[in-house]
Amino acid sequence: MSTRKAPAATPAPGRPGRRSSVALKIFMALTGILLIGFLYLHMIGNLKIFFGAEAFDHYAAWLRTIGTPLLPHEWYLWIQRGVLTVAVVGHIVAATILARRARQARPVKYAHRPKVQGSYAARTMRWGGVIVLLFVIYHILDLTTGTLNPNGVHLEAYKNVSTDFAPGRWYVTLFYTLSIVAVGFHMRHGIWSALRTLGQQSPRGEVIARATALVLSWVLVLGFLVVPFAVLVGLVD
Ligand code: HEM
Repeated sequence: MSTRKAPAATPAPGRPGRRSSVALKIFMALTGILLIGFLYLHMIGNLKIFFGAEAFDHYAAWLRTIGTPLLPHEWYLWIQRGVLTVAVVGHIVAATILARRARQARPVKYAHRPKVQGSYAARTMRWGGVIVLLFVIYHILDLTTGTLNPNGVHLEAYKNVSTDFAPGRWYVTLFYTLSIVAVGFHMRHGIWSALRTLGQQSPRGEVIARATALVLSWVLVLGFLVVPFAVLVGLVD
């Protein structure tokens, strides 16, 4: 009988250990949760548009005063921008490293990619993430700096939104709709994945995780979309 021991489970030279991949997944989950928190607050804030121009513009001005007088005017907003940027960049870097590791772990490239949920979701997440990122860049130029907005006046948030989604600019509403649906898909798989990373293991937990991911993404998508469509049909003008 052979007494040879099984080789120790050390990672191959140059190949990072499993522990650091788990750490990256936890980092992705936490940054994802932070970004979803921002999106929920943003979506709820947007609904203030239904209270009229004065209320919505006042809300936009109030955002600049958060933390005052402890912090100078707009400082909170800049801190938030810094945190969100670090979270987005970190989320992308971690996703790229994990994707590269997954590719390297495969001995040979698949001749035919098996149509399993894992690879399909991974590809959707990658391209969905790129679409969301491009949308956010456009969106900031549109409604934050006003560069691409037909009104584009700082702090005239109501008019900036209502001219943006006016019926004649249906293609802008279409672009926002497709992008927000992409945000929803990205979030749905992201939440499910994050819950798995953060410890959800049981079959019952799996059902709860799927339902949570579905409900949270639908509510966010509908909450965002109600604004451009309200403008389109004349409820907000
Ligand atoms: C139809 C849906 C949306 C509307 C009407 C909307 C509206 C706005 C408005 C008016 C601003 C400027 C706020 C201000 O400067 O006072 C803004 C900023 C912003 N929005 Fe949206 N938004 C929508 C969807 C989204 C989505 C889906 C995302 C992300 C995926 C997003 C991310 C941002 C970011 C990052 C900013 C910049 C915040 C800052 O200046 O620090 N928005 N949005």
